[in-house]
Amino acid sequence: MATKKTEGKTAGKTAGKTAGKSPVRKTGMRKGLTAYGDEGFSLFLRKAFIKAMGYTDDALDRPIVGITNTFSGFNACHRNVPELIEAVKRGVMLAGGLPVEFPVITLHESFAHPTSMYLRNLMAVDTEEMMRGQPVDSVVLIGGCDKTVPALLMGAASANIPSIMLVTGPMITGDHKGERLGACTDCRRFWGKYRATEISEQEIGEINNKLAPSAGTCMVMGTASTMALCSEALGMMLPGGSCVPAVMADRLRQAEASGARAVAMAKERLTPDKIMTVEAFENALRVLFAVGGSTNAIVHLTAMAGRLGIKLDLDAFDKMGRETPVLVDLKPTGQGYMEDLYKAGGLATILREIRHQMNLKALTVTGRTLGEELAAATPAWDQQVVRKFKNPVFAGGSIAVLRGNLAPGGAIIKQAAMDPKLTQHEGRAVVFESLPDMAARVDDPNLDVKADDILVLKNAGPIGAPGMPEAGYLPIPKKLAAKGVKDMIRISDARMSGTAFGAIVLHVTPESAVGGNLALVRSGDRIRLDVPARKLELLVSDAELGRRRKAWQAPKPRPGDERGYRKLFMEQITQADEGCDFAFLKTKITTQVPRKR
Ligand code: FES
Repeated sequence: MATKKTEGKTAGKTAGKTAGKSPVRKTGMRKGLTAYGDEGFSLFLRKAFIKAMGYTDDALDRPIVGITNTFSGFNACHRNVPELIEAVKRGVMLAGGLPVEFPVITLHESFAHPTSMYLRNLMAVDTEEMMRGQPVDSVVLIGGCDKTVPALLMGAASANIPSIMLVTGPMITGDHKGERLGACTDCRRFWGKYRATEISEQEIGEINNKLAPSAGTCMVMGTASTMALCSEALGMMLPGGSCVPAVMADRLRQAEASGARAVAMAKERLTPDKIMTVEAFENALRVLFAVGGSTNAIVHLTAMAGRLGIKLDLDAFDKMGRETPVLVDLKPTGQGYMEDLYKAGGLATILREIRHQMNLKALTVTGRTLGEELAAATPAWDQQVVRKFKNPVFAGGSIAVLRGNLAPGGAIIKQAAMDPKLTQHEGRAVVFESLPDMAARVDDPNLDVKADDILVLKNAGPIGAPGMPEAGYLPIPKKLAAKGVKDMIRISDARMSGTAFGAIVLHVTPESAVGGNLALVRSGDRIRLDVPARKLELLVSDAELGRRRKAWQAPKPRPGDERGYRKLFMEQITQADEGCDFAFLKTKITTQVPRKR
């Protein structure tokens, strides 16, 4: 009865508005009306259609909280999205809002051809335009797998509608013959053993069943874990939200609380530009170093910052790295998994160790500062996962930025996850012209390659592949792997999974497909890598490089390059140092991060 009364009252109000009066507030159902040329009619029509969902006028007068539904049968990392949505809805309704879920495309690392990075910007555009095109007062962004978190945050930053990030959470670990294992550092480790014929076909099959044993994201310090932690440090997630495993009840409580908070954020108009500031990005970058995070996070944070007119300064970033030790003992740089970090207190435990390096006054989605949230977190206890600042896992510069004639626009290496003997090395180049060329020859018993050579892969960058796939982890040639070679220097314009380990130089800029010097390297050339000096040099004279450049021809367009999303991608994609965002989606740069000190 009460519902009917309310409906009648509000329906009258609506009828009055349809008579030509302008809407009182541009929020909720009145926001972003479809353009029929008559606002009153547009609202009338909108309400008529949404009432087919069974809503009352009372419900439709509440702040509307959108929830991105990124579930897909192909995305195991988002398997728990449906139950998270239910918990978010509960939180929204408890706080007096109306939750409305809507679909956004989703991306899983193993189900995106040619690579998920090729589609990240498409997801960001989808997010931005759906947030802008639908009447949402705030949005709970549910992501988790590597590209989904940056894509959602890029879209939210550009739409600039109050938003809160909720991740699906990491998987729990599996077990094989008494050894803990998880995706995907152990995927690569065991695959390496299989290639080296150390384990049988049957055993690798058994391991395949155990590497991803639950819903959730890869549970090592790969890109998903790194982006979750960086998003919390950025202030875009509720405190403690990054580490809770996907299968735990706490994950659902995080979802409920995110929904409730999104209602308040709508009322407060707490938009992303107030949270994703230079100070906040400095915090995220600092945490990237402290957790020994994925190299991919550099590209994603660069793209996210670019949406707000902030440029990542690679040299200042390198300097920040030198003063920030790796404190978290997780694979691939250490031993543990995300559930261990969760039990050790999550991000708060890390922040306590680096609080003197953090911008504690940066605002978070709670409306309080990072420092206030840290002070309110559960007090520290004895634990083994997060080391003390003075007793780190790695002393500093887990990711180093390299410069030299082979990478004038920069390249990076995760020195915390490589054989330290290779940090200063000169060797002979063994060049693969493309991914197909590498696939065809790397295991050829006749390949002229020795353990101290340097493997070089061309045409695997943003334009060359396209999409800058995670192909930088070139396999050790089978004949060397069989002799026990575990690490070699590998150089490319590709990316690498955050879960990988090795002396791998990535993101060489400019990439070979646009004529960077990488395109000019020939097998037999000498290359010198000096990580402490941050140098990457091709030891070929300028005169010879000039001759080679004259003879160089850009790769021919591939079938499919001429139309559709691929055409847009090829025309608009920027290089790694600009985050591989589309040029037309970036905002005019007005400042840089980290700030020079
Ligand atoms: Fe989704 Fe690793 S494949 S997080």
